[in-house]
Amino acid sequence: MTTREQNDFLTRTGPGTPMGSLLRRYWIPALLSQEVPQGDCPPVRVKLMSERLIAFRDTRGGVGVIDEFCAHRGVSLWFARNEENGLRCPYHGWKYDVTGQCVEVPSEPTESGFCKRVRLKSYPCVELGDVIWVYMGPPELKPPLPAFEWAKVAHPRRFVSKRTQECNYLQAMEGGIDSAHVSFLHRHDLRSDELHVGEGAELTRATDARFEVVETRGGMIIGVRRPAQAGHLYWRITQWVMPFHTMIPPYGENALNGHAWVPVDDESCMAWCFTHHPTRALTEHELAVMRSGGGIHVKLIPGSFRPVVNKDNDYMIDRAAQRAGKTYCGVAGIAMQDAAIQESMGPVQDRSKENLVSTDNGVIMARVRLRKAALAAAQGKEPDGIDPATHAVRSASLVLPESVSFIDAAAEALKAREGVAHTSV
Ligand code: FES
Ligand SMILES: [Fe+2]
Repeated sequence: MTTREQNDFLTRTGPGTPMGSLLRRYWIPALLSQEVPQGDCPPVRVKLMSERLIAFRDTRGGVGVIDEFCAHRGVSLWFARNEENGLRCPYHGWKYDVTGQCVEVPSEPTESGFCKRVRLKSYPCVELGDVIWVYMGPPELKPPLPAFEWAKVAHPRRFVSKRTQECNYLQAMEGGIDSAHVSFLHRHDLRSDELHVGEGAELTRATDARFEVVETRGGMIIGVRRPAQAGHLYWRITQWVMPFHTMIPPYGENALNGHAWVPVDDESCMAWCFTHHPTRALTEHELAVMRSGGGIHVKLIPGSFRPVVNKDNDYMIDRAAQRAGKTYCGVAGIAMQDAAIQESMGPVQDRSKENLVSTDNGVIMARVRLRKAALAAAQGKEPDGIDPATHAVRSASLVLPESVSFIDAAAEALKAREGVAHTSV
């Protein structure tokens, strides 16, 4: 049972909150590299854990992520001119570089040195895997760079998208470690979504799912077994890497998929969606399907990261398609099914009212782990999932004889191994 106090503890991530302080110890996906495609391009707004920031690429190509508001009288630097290695506030011309340092205050004599004393908050950032990551924690605790396989493979092997989700990050992330819902919510898509079909997708339709959760150094492994041929079990194995990375077990020949569930504020999050193949470039066809909202990706309203299908249009629910067995819940597309269902719980799910069962074991353990890590970090302990070695893992799907332990039999399959394809049925 999660009390109201525990729920608040887990879901609030603003500055100074225990969970916010924990999440600030990690590198966080903040924006796509393509949002700031070249030097002096327009600045973009980025909101992370209730902090309003501005990202820009300066003339030399360096990226800065700084406070959104001008130190003079608080104008949003989204209106700034990005020129000659800095952002110039259009109100009175104060100018800032990528470190947030004010480099010019036109009204003051240069000799006064006034601008040297003005500095906006700024966060270190790094570009990795077509994503700009930021580190928002104490400078002296900055961790080594992340090492997720999707971020390390060559560009043609990867496709990254992101979409806003109108609910707290935790209930979105809990969907990523709740393998049981797939047999229901996505049931019909397992036959129709071409990036999901395969023998494993058929087996996943079995609703008799049993969970085995194994804690790891970086998070946990969630093994879910369903019946397969006589004497065998079909195992779908999800990885959760602290604090909010989830890796979906693959289907057939398809690429690997995963997410990062990043809080925007306490009532919305950014669902980062990563598809990669460890050993080959994604095909033009796969890319076309993903760009048009197939697989775990969605179609977005142009110029935004809000899905075309959203709360305001009732997710374009199609009751006829639901009755006809085309979709289980009436919403089209795997990602939007998840989003619709999770947003329906309210901006922050009240976990004090829920009734958990055995298939919620992954969810329960993740909550315990996050709470413990936040409390321990406040006492000076390094949180799990910071060491890049713990990122080099994969999800897997495989059929095993009933008698073997999945965690032993899948040990190699669960490691990210360069040049070796993933294990998938
Ligand atoms: S408010 Fe930005 S320069 Fe005056
Ligand atoms: Fe789902």
